[in-house]
Amino acid sequence: MNRTTSPPARGRLIVFEGIDGTGKSTQLRLVALALRQRGYPVVATREPTEGPYGRRIRALYADRGGCSREEELDLFIADRRDHVEAVLQPALAAGKIILCDRYFLSTAAYQGANGMDVGTILARNRFAPVPDLAILFEAPIALGIERITASRGEGLNDFEKVEGLTRVAKIFAALDLPYIRRIDAAQPIDTVRDTILALILPLLPPPSAAN
Ligand code: TMP
Repeated sequence: MNRTTSPPARGRLIVFEGIDGTGKSTQLRLVALALRQRGYPVVATREPTEGPYGRRIRALYADRGGCSREEELDLFIADRRDHVEAVLQPALAAGKIILCDRYFLSTAAYQGANGMDVGTILARNRFAPVPDLAILFEAPIALGIERITASRGEGLNDFEKVEGLTRVAKIFAALDLPYIRRIDAAQPIDTVRDTILALILPLLPPPSAAN
């Protein structure tokens, strides 16, 4: 009798990163659909989460001066700890394919742009599972701002915000980690989706092996 047991299933963690307005959330929906149609068990999730820390973070957007940059970093990390424990680790252990809209590279870029040290931010995120793939959406800042303004009706035109996003984009551009793949997010929507799928599919087990 063959008593060898197969190793426990381990899912995949794929994160979507980039500045605001590059189409990450739209693409995450399209890619989740395409993977589900191929029979993969997909968990679509995002940060900041809908949990208590994520809600506090969203409340802060309305009143940015409401906390120091150190407190802001602490909130994003606390939110991530909850997310890792409640969603990411269990889904990975169950062999799911996780698509996560923003993860710790966003903390590096945004809180880095807010004056915190990028190396320290990454070190504080060592508790978080390293992604199998981080898809970094790249597009001109003007395009991102145009999309945000058009889709959400948000007034993002003031110089301070453009300057802030420019700093964020510079940090994203400088990140050099083996699991990062950069894509041109200014391409047509179907082209971007197909590019992303071409990056993800080779990393996945056959759908029947994923449960
Ligand atoms: P969203 O618009 O993708 O929901 O993200 C909300 C904002 O939160 C976005 O401007 C990026 C920012 N953010 C950080 O500043 N640090 C982080 O760690 C994460 C996950 C998001």
